[in-house]
Amino acid sequence: MDSQRTPDPVGANPVTSRTTVSGQAGAVLPSLRFDIVTLFPEIFSGYLTQSLLAKAIDKGLVEIHVHNLRDWSVDQKHHKVDDRPYGGGPGMLICVEPVIRCVEAVIAMDSRPASVVLLTPQGEQLGQQRVEKLAPLGRLILLCGRYEGFDHRVIELLNPLELSIGDFVLNGGEVAAMVVVDSTIRMIPGVLGDEQSSWDDSFSRGNRLLEFPQYTRPVEFRGLKVPEVLTSGDHGRIAQWRAEQSQMRTRERRKDLLGSQPSETD
Ligand code: ADE
Repeated sequence: MDSQRTPDPVGANPVTSRTTVSGQAGAVLPSLRFDIVTLFPEIFSGYLTQSLLAKAIDKGLVEIHVHNLRDWSVDQKHHKVDDRPYGGGPGMLICVEPVIRCVEAVIAMDSRPASVVLLTPQGEQLGQQRVEKLAPLGRLILLCGRYEGFDHRVIELLNPLELSIGDFVLNGGEVAAMVVVDSTIRMIPGVLGDEQSSWDDSFSRGNRLLEFPQYTRPVEFRGLKVPEVLTSGDHGRIAQWRAEQSQMRTRERRKDLLGSQPSETD
């Protein structure tokens, strides 16, 4: 029974390529390939050209392919991919057939094994630890839902990792897919200018606490001064002040994080 399935530790889902279609001859394989399956591909066009992501794509570190689910519709005329739920109820569901046809075709577009992620408010809530596990997987197929969601057989057949970006309902999975892409590419070496910066991010492996406050010029604005320690040039004191600030902020805002400091194996 589906309800007894153990949640897929992503990467273990059995979706692997059946056909080998290599990229450009001689090209260095990018570190992470995303295939985004959506009914609204245009939503991604602005996002894909924004600076950090565009640079990562240019450098060949990230590859993003957006696929219109309607291209795999069994309805030649209207390219319909949704239908009413059996048993009644409001709204429309995305049908199983186009999704499976699409995912199988997309898998075959590259020889790298793919992990399937389905964006849904029913999923595991995305956090930095999951982001860190997604980044090394090499290839992610992101399924964006619309309407009332997918025919449940999509989940039974693909056994995707179901991810939510929070306890609220979006109009579809597209924004959530962008969140997954945006957070994951930061983990890929070379995407950020400074290798250390994603390590230091709040919630990251190097720091499961909230970040300390930061300041830049001017040293005083409307009577508010930058803490003296930060302009002292004393790196030891600065590091200590920052660690204390992180602790303090986390205690005030997110006590739940205090028990989850990184260990050697984290
Ligand atoms: N689709 C609709 N709401 C969502 C959410 N909160 N997270 C991921 N996908 C969604």
